[in-house]
Amino acid sequence: MKNTMKISTLAATALLATTTSVSAGDVEVLHWWTSGGEAASVNYLKDKLSDAGVGWTDFAVAGGGGENAMTVLKSRAISGNPPTAAQIKGPSIQEWGDLGFLADIDGVAKANDWDNLLPAVVSDVMKHDGKYVAAPVNVHRVNWMWSNPEVFRYAGATIPTTWDDFMVQAAKLEKAGFIALAHGGQAWQDATLFEAVVLGVGGADYYNSAFVSPVDLDVLKSDTTVEVFETFGNLRQFIDANSPGRDWNVATSMVMEGKAGMQIMGDWAKGEFKVAGMNVGTDYVCTAAPGTSGGHTFNIDSFAFFAQSDAARTAAQNTMAAEILGTDFQTVFNLNKGSIPARLGVSRAEFDSCAHDSMDAFIAASASGSLVPSFAHGMAVSSAVSGAIYDSATNFFNSDQSAQEGADQLVAAVAAAM
Ligand code: BGC
Repeated sequence: MKNTMKISTLAATALLATTTSVSAGDVEVLHWWTSGGEAASVNYLKDKLSDAGVGWTDFAVAGGGGENAMTVLKSRAISGNPPTAAQIKGPSIQEWGDLGFLADIDGVAKANDWDNLLPAVVSDVMKHDGKYVAAPVNVHRVNWMWSNPEVFRYAGATIPTTWDDFMVQAAKLEKAGFIALAHGGQAWQDATLFEAVVLGVGGADYYNSAFVSPVDLDVLKSDTTVEVFETFGNLRQFIDANSPGRDWNVATSMVMEGKAGMQIMGDWAKGEFKVAGMNVGTDYVCTAAPGTSGGHTFNIDSFAFFAQSDAARTAAQNTMAAEILGTDFQTVFNLNKGSIPARLGVSRAEFDSCAHDSMDAFIAASASGSLVPSFAHGMAVSSAVSGAIYDSATNFFNSDQSAQEGADQLVAAVAAAM
């Protein structure tokens, strides 16, 4: 069994939480929302809970994409002291559920009619053995590109909608003295960029067969994968030498400040533009990542709840779950976070044009089959396969491997992780 979560020490300590310094009526919440927009979002959750009489102990572990947070969560769980709730997403929810860690919050879900409030693509992920164990806060669209229109005007360039045109326009930005692509050299950001190329070059059918569980290795071995790596490799030249280790929000600020023209990043980037008081259309522009217009790579943030032995703590947990699905919460939280509500029945009125595009693309893509789960953000494959994709994408991007070598390495790594 190659699943990285299934370490026997973890299974052996699948205990109810008994040792924590958090007071009984409080929740201790693990998350990785530490950028400006993210902090505004999580603070709203904290305020909502405070209004409902539930105290908050913050357990923030910085690090975009959540890898650090997941490492810390595993060590807390191993010591038999998991938090009340943790930001856990996608197939990982099943992995934690299989280990016996999660609380059944089906009572709250039934009382509030979650089966009818949530699209099946969302609710399916929140259940383990048919019972809700997690509550969704949002739907992020990952295949976005954020551009600075002023930079484009100055360079006489236009915002590209295909990868071929991207190379042409990016070269114009560079010639005019800008960094074409703001990027942070961290594995999860490399994977996020790679994912946009996979969808843009390969299309939704290829994406679904090669990058969503169960992975079809024959499709992954096809020439399309080599083409994907060719395009991905061509992006290396448009990133500045200071990118290694750079945080994603620092890359966003390069676009804001007019140092760089574009960033390819999920719509949590919009939260940063909002905190900076910038307006969509005039100060920045959101378009689908090249070649992906109409497509929607979804990434659903959710909180999974850990089983508790104390009734007061279980009550606090249930309050948190109920608050999360409220229309107020789903509106304000998502206005700050850059995402769209996970539940149905929330008014679109307060949301901006990027959010409307995401909502429309979500519905249209779901009808046309081009709604795809984000593998770079833990929605599509097991943590082991996702680790293999991360490693291959980042090794390739930070080396001079050929496209063929990149593709071969990916196929071998994914096959070994399955
Ligand atoms: C999460 C977002 C978060 C982003 C950057 C993603 O995996 O889903 O909520 O803002 O990482 O940290």
